[in-house]
Amino acid sequence: MINPIASKYNNEQRLLHGGDYNPDQWLNYPEILADDIELMQKAHTNTFSVSIFAWSALESTEGNFHFDWLDKIIENIAKIDGNVILATPSGARPAWLSASYPEVLRVNARRERMLHGGRHNHCFSSPVYREKVEIINTKLAERYGNYPSLLMWHISNEYGGECHCPLCQENFRNWLKVKYGDINTLNHAYWSAFWSHTYNDFSQVESPSPIGESGLHGLTLDWKRFVSDQTINFYRHEIAPLRKITPNIPITTNFMGEVTNPHPFAGLDYAKFAKEVDIISWDAYPRWHNDYETTEFLASKLAFLNDYFRTLKDIPFLVLESTPSMVNWHPVNKAKRPGMHMLSSMACIAHGSDSMMYFQWRKSRGSSEKLHGAVVDHDNSAENRVFKDVAAVGQALEKIPEIKGSKTPAKVAVLYDVENLWALSDAQGYHGGMDYNDKKYPQTLHAHYRAFWKRDIPIDVVTKDKNLTKYDLVIAPMLYMTSEETMEKLAVYVEGGGRLVSTYMLGVANENDLVHLGGFPQKLRDVFGIRIVETDTLYPKDRNAIMWGGKQYEAFDYCAIIETCGARTLGTYADDFYSRTPAVTMNGYGEGFAHFIGARTNEDFLDDFYNIFIEKLGLSCSLISAQDGVSVQMRENGENIYYFAMNFTEKGRQMTLETEMQDMLSGKMLQSGIYDMKPYGVHIFKNNKLKGC
Ligand code: GLA
Ligand code: ZN
Repeated sequence: MINPIASKYNNEQRLLHGGDYNPDQWLNYPEILADDIELMQKAHTNTFSVSIFAWSALESTEGNFHFDWLDKIIENIAKIDGNVILATPSGARPAWLSASYPEVLRVNARRERMLHGGRHNHCFSSPVYREKVEIINTKLAERYGNYPSLLMWHISNEYGGECHCPLCQENFRNWLKVKYGDINTLNHAYWSAFWSHTYNDFSQVESPSPIGESGLHGLTLDWKRFVSDQTINFYRHEIAPLRKITPNIPITTNFMGEVTNPHPFAGLDYAKFAKEVDIISWDAYPRWHNDYETTEFLASKLAFLNDYFRTLKDIPFLVLESTPSMVNWHPVNKAKRPGMHMLSSMACIAHGSDSMMYFQWRKSRGSSEKLHGAVVDHDNSAENRVFKDVAAVGQALEKIPEIKGSKTPAKVAVLYDVENLWALSDAQGYHGGMDYNDKKYPQTLHAHYRAFWKRDIPIDVVTKDKNLTKYDLVIAPMLYMTSEETMEKLAVYVEGGGRLVSTYMLGVANENDLVHLGGFPQKLRDVFGIRIVETDTLYPKDRNAIMWGGKQYEAFDYCAIIETCGARTLGTYADDFYSRTPAVTMNGYGEGFAHFIGARTNEDFLDDFYNIFIEKLGLSCSLISAQDGVSVQMRENGENIYYFAMNFTEKGRQMTLETEMQDMLSGKMLQSGIYDMKPYGVHIFKNNKLKGC
């Protein structure tokens, strides 16, 4: 792993502004390429990801390389003091490669070999694909490694998907052999005696398939783990020549996030992947101005994902793609309203992004993305609304370069575990089954997260491999899959003085998705002082209620029926056969406390419940308060706290400064007092830390 501290990226003083640039689509239009350079300056952009899908322009037939065009592009970007994030082109394949070596084509779960076309669809095991990637990556590193404008490597594009070809099956079986050693250990982990699915030999194991095995949850989990490991293995292969030839150039690969639900792309274990990259980056595409939720609610979902990507490495990340206007793949591709581009850009910077980059710089002329928003539209103009909005963001970023590298001081964390999401979506029980959204794990994490976001309290979205002891409060809802290791980790955290909150569905299965025998695990009984004896799943219109603190709160979807064995009962159920039994509990364990919420509730309960923690732990220390719908987020470095006050409503709002602060975008010093905010308005304030909290 290189030390990014020593790298050019850390010496770059600017926040990155720019995006995916695909000059390879325009090589027959030299006047357009010349315009690009002029327009880049007008747009106040400084960084471009190039050659992402340029393999056929770089190697038109096998071994026939063309770098002249890319030399010119990079040199021209350098002339305007721009950076290049150079991509390895493996995200899409040239036709000659598929034609000569069909093994590079993926095989789907139905065991059908794909035809050439599309993208992001190569076999991660194929030795030929690996060889060809190594050749082109080596050439890129040798040729461009010393270009001063080379800022970073962009590895492939949005890694994802799986291949079920014979090569991948073989790798999967080898992976299983390493993991289990002998087939009987695997049989036990997969509970394969069920439906007579016992394997005699590793050679009989096949990846899950709709035309074959799909009911062994140990197998489906392992397959997802394998796909993740195999993708990372391929990535390692991609970066090997880059590390060797350009050890000082940091490496990123663009991760994905599903803002709507919201959760990070679930096809890969990003907690593992994060350890292999120098800088985290992701592609953010919220559906602004939709007709089913408020702007404020959507902003909190975007914030949840930004906080997840920030927490992966505990350092600022990059938004590597976003749209300046609209995408072409939402159900409705709506234009950003005036003000939204600035607001949505700052919404990412506020949560730890050191960039605002776009897909894409120039709108394609043809093919599937010809109507996808871009900085430069088909009119080639710097005068249209979108272009001017982008330039305004560029100018704003030029006023706040000192924010680069500043951190977010979170004392609260909500735990997101992708393996838990995998196991829950397999579980045919509770609600529905087989879908990431049926049981609403990500939505529930977000609901708990929101209680803090709404109060402007910094919060991390942490993965289970991380050290928890730095947090005052850890919230781990719906932790269905709880291994001995995780239980131990949680116990140690509470014992050492931490506060832990969990909910219904806690502690059901181990890491193989085998249910813990003997009921609710002893370790969790000790920590929480309770025992979950049943879980009731409700129809969508069913309602129970939790009586807590003299109030009654709606309970729905899931009600865990619990018995206490040491915990104090704080709240009880109002109805049904478990009426008056414990619904909310608290237990002292070691130096800390473990709290349990038995049922799914609305925001009102979560707000009141977490308010107690916020008061007790002194978590709220912002020097800016504001009306509903305004979010105030902070970043800090050794010297200053930077407050981002963002009005995520369509109405004017007011904010109150408790002390004098500099408004960085207007340059004005504002005295303490009440100020008006415009609809979608955003202000960035700087406050000397000594005067802060
Ligand atoms: C993804 C891809 C880009 C582009 C955008 C469109 O993020 O990485 O190449 O297709 O989607 O929104
Ligand atoms: Zn394969």
